[in-house]
Amino acid sequence: DWSAASFIETTVAELKEQLGDDKVVLGLSGGVDSSVAAVLLNKAIGKNLTCIFVDHGMLRKNEFKNVLHDYECLGLNVIGVDASSKFFAELAGVTEPERKRKIIGKGFIDVFDEEAHKIKDVKWLAQGTIYPDCIESLSITGTVIKSHHNVGGLPEKMNLKLCEPLRLLFKDEVRRVGRELGMPEHLITRHPFPGPGLAVRILGDITPEKVRVLQDADDIFIQGLRDWKVKDADGNETSLYHQVWQAGVILLPVQSVGVMGDERTYERAVALRAVTSTDAMTADWAHLPYEFMAKVSNDIINKVKGVNRVCYDISSKPPATIEWE
Ligand code: XMP
Repeated sequence: DWSAASFIETTVAELKEQLGDDKVVLGLSGGVDSSVAAVLLNKAIGKNLTCIFVDHGMLRKNEFKNVLHDYECLGLNVIGVDASSKFFAELAGVTEPERKRKIIGKGFIDVFDEEAHKIKDVKWLAQGTIYPDCIESLSITGTVIKSHHNVGGLPEKMNLKLCEPLRLLFKDEVRRVGRELGMPEHLITRHPFPGPGLAVRILGDITPEKVRVLQDADDIFIQGLRDWKVKDADGNETSLYHQVWQAGVILLPVQSVGVMGDERTYERAVALRAVTSTDAMTADWAHLPYEFMAKVSNDIINKVKGVNRVCYDISSKPPATIEWE
């Protein structure tokens, strides 16, 4: 008999008790979890909460600007830091997925640490860690499958106490809490997005030009999912975006031959990925309508310079993972 309203009531009371007049910093990622954690903490301790939102350059098209605006509208005390050039420099030439994650994780800690030190007397670090983050970081045999940089790392370096108010919740519960807190629907229903962002969707090395290509292709796919209206099982209007758990485009380290007008082209291939899931632990590839895929494929090839081929990933998790890296 879990309810969002009683979770909020209890958690806000616990946070007030636990944190008193202490100052708290929280890293916002743009995702549902950290946003809900921030609004919950804001409700409990108000101005003693400072949020930091770092742009590592691997976000979606216009995401930094748009999400920062959303946060300001929510009344959060938020500092936006554009650190993209630092990350591009550090990632140059790196191809190995776990090294990309390590570089981004460490770079993120450095930027965050520097900003947090500007705030006087911070005692706590708050994070939007949810239950699956904790278990996915370690498999049952203790082998790291993918190191999720939003778990661990920061508190040791900064000598802060850790506050994770959502650590026992699953994603659907986090969304219910966000709704109950009155957060806007477009923030609540946002798809999950990996901390290292597009860096783990560019197979091979990362360049600003590849990020731009991927951002443009991704934007067409995601906007297309939002615009494609369908009826749900109860006959209510919804969109493909809301029917899938997560979606994105992957830039493949492959060039292929194509033809445009009378010209032979030799350009990049991208893969579309869309999955249905309830907790990201397992996932099925989404059975998107062919007409939709045809439209998105045409739009990407016509509008995104440098891409001449679009594929659809039909693998499920397990044995594939949601991300390609
Ligand atoms: P996989 O690819 O392991 O992803 O099936 C499961 C979920 O986790 C997200 N993901 C990450 N999230 N840092 C994150 O914060 C990461 O390094 C990372 N890698 C994967 C992925 O997008 C999916 O929602």
